[in-house]
Amino acid sequence: MCGIIGYLGPKAVIPILVDGLKKLEYRGYDSAGIAVVDESRIHLKRVKGKICDLEKHLGSDTLDGYCGVGHTRWATHGRPSEENAHPHQDCTGSLVVVHNGIIENYLSLKKKLIKEGHTFRTETDTEVIAHLIEKYYQGSLEKAVQQAARDLEGAFAIAVISLQEPEKIVAAKNGPPAVIGLGGGEYFVSSDLNPLLSHTQEIVFLEDGEMAVIESRGVKFCDFKGKPLEKKVDHITWSPLMVEKRGFKHFMLKEIFEQPQVVRDTLKGRVSLDSGRVFLDEIGISAAALKRINRVVIIACGTSYHAGLVGKYLMESLARIPVDVEYASEYRYRDFILDKDALVMVISQSGETADSLAALRAAKKNKPLTLALCNVVKSSITRESDGVLYTHAGPEIGVAATKTFSAQLAALALFALHLALVKGCLDEKRSLSLIEDLQRIPHRMENILNQAKHIEDLALKFLTFSHFLYLGRGINFPVALEGALKLKEISYIHAEGYPGGEMKHGPIALIDEKMPTMAVVPRDNVYEKMLSNISEIKTRVGYILAVAFEDDKEIQDKVDTVLAIPSTHPLFTPFLTTLPLQLFAYYIAAKRGADVDQPRNLAKSVTVE
Ligand code: F6R
Repeated sequence: MCGIIGYLGPKAVIPILVDGLKKLEYRGYDSAGIAVVDESRIHLKRVKGKICDLEKHLGSDTLDGYCGVGHTRWATHGRPSEENAHPHQDCTGSLVVVHNGIIENYLSLKKKLIKEGHTFRTETDTEVIAHLIEKYYQGSLEKAVQQAARDLEGAFAIAVISLQEPEKIVAAKNGPPAVIGLGGGEYFVSSDLNPLLSHTQEIVFLEDGEMAVIESRGVKFCDFKGKPLEKKVDHITWSPLMVEKRGFKHFMLKEIFEQPQVVRDTLKGRVSLDSGRVFLDEIGISAAALKRINRVVIIACGTSYHAGLVGKYLMESLARIPVDVEYASEYRYRDFILDKDALVMVISQSGETADSLAALRAAKKNKPLTLALCNVVKSSITRESDGVLYTHAGPEIGVAATKTFSAQLAALALFALHLALVKGCLDEKRSLSLIEDLQRIPHRMENILNQAKHIEDLALKFLTFSHFLYLGRGINFPVALEGALKLKEISYIHAEGYPGGEMKHGPIALIDEKMPTMAVVPRDNVYEKMLSNISEIKTRVGYILAVAFEDDKEIQDKVDTVLAIPSTHPLFTPFLTTLPLQLFAYYIAAKRGADVDQPRNLAKSVTVE
């Protein structure tokens, strides 16, 4: 949700900012801009559109300066337009700000500033920040930013440059993420790690209420009152190659193909193939503490919520513990019932989703144990939870989550096994057999990916449909939800996920030849039930595609097309059933000419409510 970048160093500023913005573009892409300061002025370029439009606008401009900031926007206040694009200026144009977040008290601040003689040019909330800093400026940019930050209510990660102090960037954070990259003699500020990986792996994560003052001689850290802070430098192991497309047409396709590896990486070192034991001491919650919990509440949004639903089936089945799965955006406003014997697990690939973070904060008031299941090291949700179970998916750039979903499934399977062992619901022999099945999953995923061409050809038949139904039952009901979400978000085809047994209670009225059904039907305890549901649709002339085991002969004459997957333990089928659905959605969207990696109206990392 908006990306900010800043650079101060000896290299040409603009190429670094533009390259950084490309790597942040998945956070928002309706307008973009950069500003560079030299000794005489601040050069500002903004466009409505994407980073490639900004690049075109910059043309062969050789603007350069001491340092600069850039922004890629996902509009909240003010429609996408050139004037509402960041960076935003003060009255004189000698100071600019880029901002990720929302300033909640901007209207009252704006009224006051207008009364005091400030002239506003845009509809944005961000512009008040520039005018506030202008108001407080008395020879020290950091002091003015500190004072302004204290007036602001809401969420902000900002980077500020000024003509008065042209060799300085001041960054401040309260809510959305901000990281500082320390290269040899060059410094960066960014919304996330991706733009920094090709320059440095030495990172400082700003916490809420903290600021960084970046100059060519180094970086100082302080709080909003000016108190100096000693910050730890973290060494990041993600590599720059992880944020390249590496020959794939889209990041989403590359990430779909990375799934066997991310499952391997997420399992690695955490299970024993000799004893059936699971090693999750790293999560920071002891076995004794887990033994005491009597309930699990999973909180998440979107695809992570669907992973949470799979987690419920895994934990209830293996660890025999009640599990509720909640939408973060609903939970945070509910009069929920929670006590200290519950474990609250927040699932979030980014670790920054505003609703999930707020729900975690609300839940913590009742003092439960809290565990983050997250892909991004040191993200806000991980910092505010008692423990963290990391997925090892590497950075995900496609806006639609794919590989992080599979990594979440792997982490949830591990956690369910761990909990079951700790609670004495599972002996090591049975655990070993499940772990063996789990270890075979990546290879089976590879078998499915080898058939991608078949799914690509199949997709061609469905490009003009406007509606789709996805059906599943049991542990594959969440997979039906996820398959439908993938199709709608990247191809803009309306798709609904439904539990098969619910069809007869209403939705079956929708079925006709214009509404194909994708049924997820591995052989499990609800297989026969799904076959009945399929036959109810078939008699109403609906076209049916089915994701089913390759050795399932029975399904062949009951549906129109089979997407075959290798068989596996019923509890681990979601790892495999998900893949054909991701590929199907991808190929339909790509062949309809949709912007697969950056679907309209969406952004990765939803850091506003
Ligand atoms: C869908 C998708 C979103 C995210 C949701 C939560 O493809 O990516 O639905 O799953 O915004 O994001 P995280 O997991 O970062 O909290």
